[in-house]
Amino acid sequence: MLAEVLAAIEPKPGEVAVDATLGGAGHARELLRRVTPGGRLFGLDLDPANLEPARALLSEIGGAFSLHHANFAGLQAILGAEGVRADAVIVDLGMSSMQVDDANRGFSFVRDGPLDMRMDSTRGRTAAQLLASLSESELASAFRDLGDEPHAEKIAAAIVAYRSNGSISRTVELARLIQEAAPVTVIRGPGQATPRQQQIRPTARVFQALRILVNRELANLQAFLRFLPDILAPSGRAAIISFHSGEDRLVKNAFREGMRSGIFISGSDEPIRASAGERYANPRSRSAKLRWIRRA
Ligand SMILES: C[S@@+](CC[C@H](N)C(=O)[O-])C[C@H]1O[C@@H](n2cnc3c(N)ncnc32)[C@H](O)[C@@H]1O
Repeated sequence: MLAEVLAAIEPKPGEVAVDATLGGAGHARELLRRVTPGGRLFGLDLDPANLEPARALLSEIGGAFSLHHANFAGLQAILGAEGVRADAVIVDLGMSSMQVDDANRGFSFVRDGPLDMRMDSTRGRTAAQLLASLSESELASAFRDLGDEPHAEKIAAAIVAYRSNGSISRTVELARLIQEAAPVTVIRGPGQATPRQQQIRPTARVFQALRILVNRELANLQAFLRFLPDILAPSGRAAIISFHSGEDRLVKNAFREGMRSGIFISGSDEPIRASAGERYANPRSRSAKLRWIRRA
């Protein structure tokens, strides 16, 4: 949703831009181009593996930028240390295609790998450690609240029964367990998803819930939304792309509250969705919702 993001946050020469979720630097490169000359880009990512490839891409453009192996929940301290506020901020939540495609990171249920799922592999508990330690009711709540999984209880019970005989350490092992615990009745007919797409839905939902839990994604977003008005310069703009109803609700409520209090003066009334072309080319963008605001 690059074009939509740029239209929303309008980065201009001389401004301070922030890409809080650098990933493959697709957004960051365009931000840097637009704030140069005279401006500066701050790029953050929880995943240290993203920084050097991003540095190489951004160096080709020239202009002033700094990259930080950091959680965007700590952005206020990073900007504060430099004594600046941001004119244009983008947060593109979730995981990058590099992370999903690397089986060793454990994000994909299609490729076998260790059940890790940490975006920052230098700290925190892995998905395997959470699966081994959370209670049945904690697992069920996570699958229901963070994955919208209707069979959350059944899947949690199957995990607890399975782990009494040993740990769950591989992605395909968990995927098999979910498919056995929550078998899908495939509905055929025009307009229906393919049988394969229907069969993997519970697995996709449980993997999403675990990833959100492992990386404390909602808590990070809440922290960011709390200090957002303070890190934006007057007339500063921020855009957030979310992929999950729980995230979008937090963003919607924080933006509405800011509009009510007068700290934000304009923004998107309804979430902006990816174009038909992008949805076709990139199936992940089908669930993306972009919201933006402008500070008073
Ligand atoms: C969807 S990708 C971003 C893609 C990027 N916009 C691009 O153009 O390539 C999300 C990235 O955000 C990072 N990330 C997720 N949560 C984060 C957090 N709390 N702080 C910093 N980075 C985070 C992930 O490691 C991942 O690289």
